[in-house]
Amino acid sequence: MKSSVTARPLAKVDTPLLAVAVPQSTPPSLPASLAELDRAATDGGLARAISAGDHKGKRDETLLVYGSGKAPPQRILLVGVGKPGEITRSVLRRAAAVAAKRARALGTKTFSFAVAAEARGGVGIAELAQVAIEGAAQGGWQFTELKKTPEEPKPELEAVELVVDAADKAEAEAGRRIGDAVAAGYRLTRNLQMLPGNICTPSYLGDQARALAKTHGFGVTVLDRAQIKKEGMGALLAVAQGSAEEPRFIVLEYQGGGGNAAPIVLVGKGVTFDSGGISIKPAQNMEEMKYDMSGAAAVLGTFEVLGRLKPKLNVVGLIPSTENLPSGTAIKPGDVIKSHLGKTIEVINTDAEGRLILCDALSYARRFKPAAALDAATLTGAVVVALGHHAIGILGNDDALVAEVRDAGERAGERCWPLPLWDEYRDLVKSDIADVKNSGGRSAGTISGAWFLKEFVEGFPWVHLDIAGTAYIEGDGAGHSKGPTAVGVRLFTEFLLKRAGA
Ligand code: BES
Ligand code: MN
Ligand code: ZN
Repeated sequence: MKSSVTARPLAKVDTPLLAVAVPQSTPPSLPASLAELDRAATDGGLARAISAGDHKGKRDETLLVYGSGKAPPQRILLVGVGKPGEITRSVLRRAAAVAAKRARALGTKTFSFAVAAEARGGVGIAELAQVAIEGAAQGGWQFTELKKTPEEPKPELEAVELVVDAADKAEAEAGRRIGDAVAAGYRLTRNLQMLPGNICTPSYLGDQARALAKTHGFGVTVLDRAQIKKEGMGALLAVAQGSAEEPRFIVLEYQGGGGNAAPIVLVGKGVTFDSGGISIKPAQNMEEMKYDMSGAAAVLGTFEVLGRLKPKLNVVGLIPSTENLPSGTAIKPGDVIKSHLGKTIEVINTDAEGRLILCDALSYARRFKPAAALDAATLTGAVVVALGHHAIGILGNDDALVAEVRDAGERAGERCWPLPLWDEYRDLVKSDIADVKNSGGRSAGTISGAWFLKEFVEGFPWVHLDIAGTAYIEGDGAGHSKGPTAVGVRLFTEFLLKRAGA
């Protein structure tokens, strides 16, 4: 999706669809800043519709009015953003997504988007431009790759044009550049998440990483099964031993901050299909476990963003990737395996495979002497029980880093909520036979998962993001279609840009 910024008056924007974000007001009235548009393009149709009670400006509320033909905009779509005092970046992002979704339904290939002066809240112009493009990408996304062409194909949304005041154009352009990069990362991530396990295999993810590296000039290393074995990643290898599909361990390196600067390490869980293994999952909804590589997809999408924005810092991406299948060669409950760090692990439940592959990646991370490490993983069903689908579970070994990541999540509209990683919970992963065990049973499932990971973090600040509840959604939302969400891409980007001082 292409994006651009224009500084024409709204009534002069030549577009099949001009979407305008408007606030809620009592009694409902057309914002003063839209009076000229209404006069020139709809002969007062917007004001008439509002006084008829057809649009109150509530969040997600839309009103489509056709232009009179006397001015260029063919259609005008009012998108409500709710009370002026409650308008945030996330609210505006969502309004752009609602508009893009409508453009897609109407079948217009492009649309223009503006935020009425009365609907800007305290959001700055650069931010407004960034989140508008992000939202447009979110609402405009569709996945048709695996379908035969339908009889009446809906065109892809090809472009979004942001309309701002002339004085704001340069600042909006700076925000658009970031939004555009995030949109590209978002698209890559969401498409990868969507692909089924028979297409998106560990080696497929490895090829994606290589392609990204080639496009953007990153360093890349992709270890195969033999090299993983040589490296001593016994836990990753143990999960992979049940599958005929080769595992991969992917290392991406972006150098934007000079050779000596300690990097940020991003780790993503890359289980391309999680059947549970010998501790097999119920058949109901098991197909959703193709999404178990969402953390990996978020890391790859973030590298797409890095390649486009080139911020001044160093970033390493680590992706342990494998399938988790039952077979005659699969690991069994009770097996004891040896991790990359050297600690032994009793496998209580083969379905707790994510922590097994991540622990080897976190151990591998030591060689980079990270300034900080962040992992994203669809790790536990328990985080869905605790937080549902609106918050990422966040835990870590450094309170300042947890706060910093939560701030990034707020800016990104990918909010994190903390769970305690107190010493008292450590008992959950104590084993009678090995150094640790991989399942702590039913209580505090997200915490025991994080405690297991913490056992393998030595010498750097670390945060774990449990995205099992946020990586995909089951139903359509106002600005969102069901399926993958690319969660993590925006949060990682916000975090990294801030770290780079951008
Ligand atoms: N990939 C699952 C977690 C998951 C559940 C992701 C639901 C998305 C939606 C993970 O590998 C898993 O199976 N976790 C187990 C851990 C347990 C065996 C300790 C779980 O949550 O039941
Ligand atoms: Mn599992
Ligand atoms: Zn899993």
